[in-house]
Amino acid sequence: MTAQIIDGKQIASQMREEIKTKAAELTEKGVQPGLAVILVGEDPASQSYVRAKEKACENCGIYSSDNRLSADTTEEELLALIDNFNKDPKIHGILVQLPLPKHIDEGKVLLAIDPNKDVDGFHPVNVGKMVVGEKAFLPCTPHGIIQLLVRSGVQLEGAEVVVVGRSNIVGKPIANMLIQKSDTGNATVTVCHTRTKNMADHIKRADIVIAAAGGPNTVTADMVKEGAAIIDVGVNRVPDDTKKKGYRLVGDVDFECVKEKAGFITPVPGGVGPMTITMLLYNTVESAQRVAD
Ligand code: GUN
Repeated sequence: MTAQIIDGKQIASQMREEIKTKAAELTEKGVQPGLAVILVGEDPASQSYVRAKEKACENCGIYSSDNRLSADTTEEELLALIDNFNKDPKIHGILVQLPLPKHIDEGKVLLAIDPNKDVDGFHPVNVGKMVVGEKAFLPCTPHGIIQLLVRSGVQLEGAEVVVVGRSNIVGKPIANMLIQKSDTGNATVTVCHTRTKNMADHIKRADIVIAAAGGPNTVTADMVKEGAAIIDVGVNRVPDDTKKKGYRLVGDVDFECVKEKAGFITPVPGGVGPMTITMLLYNTVESAQRVAD
């Protein structure tokens, strides 16, 4: 079997058209959706994510306030900026790019964001609401993964899902979302992590594998069930002299071999990545909609 490639770029672009239309309708009503993006420090990967977020806002008619702060910004300064955006009626979403420099307490910063503007879905209030199945801002990467699966016609109800990785940004929330009693849940979920014994035995049973482990070739063809849907969340740089930058991006899955056995697979880049930003735009428009209603 050769897998159907799940084209994240195409699905994201279709969703961005829907978002653009909704943003224009809200702007017409006097509520242009607005997003504040805050980056502390000069981490190159974070800088490139933040640039992509700002460009995506512009393309969808969302107002964006871009805030680049130096690496020696104090926690107090950052908290004061967040407080300003909490009170700013032009801003419906606040995103603080993670990771933060070591001298800033991430938990304290996430708690400072008004839960009604927490378009990342990282505030404990939104995390708690998600777990108990109440309406909440859903974290962007897991929400994007669910959109990829649903829009590609992959059956979630009753599916055996194995999530590899237990991060707060991907592993834990996607596992929670997939066990919800809902049209985009009703799956049976196993979460594997660095202390799991015989990870391959779990993956072999899976109808859907979500790889968010943080290392190339974590999932190989021998581990995968014939016809399974494979979602690769990994972004790893591997040295490559043939590339101008001296590296290329690969996921956590051995794409070339696994695609010959899987039913569906996401590429890296061009799979999950474009969906994360799309869901951020989606949440920002949703937040503005709540203000307009
Ligand atoms: N760093 C890596 N992924 C994310 C994300 O989805 N949101 C934020 N704020 N920071 C991140």
